[in-house]
Amino acid sequence: MRGLFITFEGPDGSGKTTVASKVCELLKENGYETVHTREPGGIEIAEEIRNVILDPKNTAMDAKTEALLYAASRRQHLVEKVFPALEEGKIVICERFLDSSLAYQGYGRQLGFDEVLNINLFAIDNTYPDLTLYLDVDEQVGLDRLKGRSFIDRLDQESIDFHHRVAQGYREVRKRFKDRIVEIDASKELDQVVNDCYQTIMNRINDPRRTEEQ
Ligand code: TMP
Repeated sequence: MRGLFITFEGPDGSGKTTVASKVCELLKENGYETVHTREPGGIEIAEEIRNVILDPKNTAMDAKTEALLYAASRRQHLVEKVFPALEEGKIVICERFLDSSLAYQGYGRQLGFDEVLNINLFAIDNTYPDLTLYLDVDEQVGLDRLKGRSFIDRLDQESIDFHHRVAQGYREVRKRFKDRIVEIDASKELDQVVNDCYQTIMNRINDPRRTEEQ
């Protein structure tokens, strides 16, 4: 049986890395073969692209160039890591995917939702996640958490207005893909957030439609 492609989305500072790591541990403890990865990155070529995109000194980067680099790293990551793992029947947990580009480049950079979707459709060959967990935190909480970080990348440095537009973009993404995206209240205690994510994944695994889809 094909594996399951699960993505975590949410604004900067929403706790994706911490929550995804704990959810992966739980899945493994319960016998599920799981691959934890992230975008942009997850494999060597995509990590190199990540460094170019996020390097604070690359202030000359054009918004469309940025969108294309995210799509390029997405393509390589799918081909090298995600597709093979799904073929092997594994659960792939990926921090960020298409929805991040729609929110950050489509809305944050104001390139347009459909424009960004179109360049990404070329990259993803119709591979949408089976399930997306959206970690919902108040925008300001996310931004405050960022302030505590030692490394601030090129996108973290963006204006408050940019981050407001990203939040608006995520609202649009959730509206357009409401069957795929489940909102998780990430303002709760960490253990509760992890448990809510895990239960949502179990529901998807046990969904009778899953066996019919294969
Ligand atoms: P991370 O800090 O969550 O690893 O993500 C790096 C930054 O890249 C984050 O600010 C969100 C941004 N990003 C986009 O703007 N578009 C994308 O398609 C992806 C995957 C990330």
